Amino acid sequence: MREVFLCDGVRTPIGRFNGALAAVRTDDLAALPIKALLARHASLDWAALDEVVLGCANQAGEDNRNVARMAVLLSGLPVEVPAVTVNRLCASGMEAVAMAARAIRTGEVELVIAGGVESMTRAPVVLPKVNGKFDPTAEYFDTTIGWRFVNPVIREKFGTDSMPETAENLATERGIARADQDAYALRSHQRAVAARGFLAGEIVPVPLANGTMVTQDEHPRADTSLEKLASLKTPFRTPGTITAGNASGVNDGACALLLASADAVKRYGLRPIARLLGSASAGVAPRVMGIGPVPATRKLLVRLDLTLAQMDNVELNEAFAAQVLAVTREFGLPDDAAHVNPNGGAIALGHPLGMTGARLVLTGAREMQRRGGKFALCTLCVGVGQGQAMVLGAV
Ligand SMILES: CC(C)(COP(=O)(O)OP(=O)(O)OC[C@H]1O[C@@H](n2cnc3c(N)ncnc32)[C@H](O)[C@@H]1OP(=O)(O)O)[C@@H](O)C(=O)NCCC(=O)NCCS
Repeated sequence: MREVFLCDGVRTPIGRFNGALAAVRTDDLAALPIKALLARHASLDWAALDEVVLGCANQAGEDNRNVARMAVLLSGLPVEVPAVTVNRLCASGMEAVAMAARAIRTGEVELVIAGGVESMTRAPVVLPKVNGKFDPTAEYFDTTIGWRFVNPVIREKFGTDSMPETAENLATERGIARADQDAYALRSHQRAVAARGFLAGEIVPVPLANGTMVTQDEHPRADTSLEKLASLKTPFRTPGTITAGNASGVNDGACALLLASADAVKRYGLRPIARLLGSASAGVAPRVMGIGPVPATRKLLVRLDLTLAQMDNVELNEAFAAQVLAVTREFGLPDDAAHVNPNGGAIALGHPLGMTGARLVLTGAREMQRRGGKFALCTLCVGVGQGQAMVLGAV
């Protein structure tokens, strides 16, 4: 098996729902970080790019019909460069990276752009047809997030808990207190705000039609506090613990990473920032989807013959503070472990579903390099009950 190198990566700032990036079409958003990679590596023979793989969780609007291919055409890459869009819901961006890495590892390809995109703001409302025909009385679905067109057998056998309800389930079953969740959420904001300078190193500004530039993540709140977090309602269960403050956001963004084989690194004079050592995915009950990182990580560490203690930094997606704490406590880590999401996570930064997995790999690799670490773990939970994990190694 060949080695896989992460050679560069860039992402847009993350916009709030209906926020700074609301006017940017999803396919244009997907093309932006790819264009940035092209500009940074202007002398590279881009016709030699074997594939573009992008994650996207929705694909019902401007991200329809293979948004990765649309992004190739919009970015200025040669038309000969093929592209594929993959969907593992919240882990779509990580699956894109994993798939590209696997193809390089086997020797099938040498140079790939992998990443992800989601504009949750621009997710459409969809109408079903009834008996193949348009029915003006049909129920419509907002595709921003969560269940739609539910199969009654799935409802019967597995339930259709919303994402916040799955976090309530973990909080109840594992006794994760509201105060601990809010304290975690506050740390996420504090770390993300403190890391603005570091995170700027992975961001490409987004030009808007009105002439302004979006230059930084819009979701972190410098002005939040334990008092404010404690005052928020728990609309998902009574009594409940999950609030808008201890949940990830609903956001927009895109990310693209350049992956290469050792031969391609040499041929194009690339400067790798990390090795991609492997990935694993695992299934869990949909009603506790947030625990997914535990079996995925365990599976991967066994396969790589590594331990959690060897991970110098961990990027653990913050779908909900309750879910993060369920995972870190299962791993025997303190709630405020300094090496877990040292630059904040999705509670502060936001979680554009298809983008996030690729962002975790980018931030995780940069952080590992910054602290002179040997290994980094990136992992996230996935709606409908899955987890995915990836381990990076130093170059
Ligand atoms: C939890 C959720 C439903 C909240 O949505 P929302 O109600 O639209 O959230 P908002 O951002 O409008 O926040 C609600 C209120 O809380 C306030 N708030 C949120 N976070 C806050 C914070 N950290 N500090 C202070 N106030 C905060 C907002 O200002 C807002 O106040 P307002 O009503 O006075 O304007 C939504 O963010 C969500 O679904 N998150 C999870 C996403 C998800 O499941 N992803 C996939 C995971 S696998």
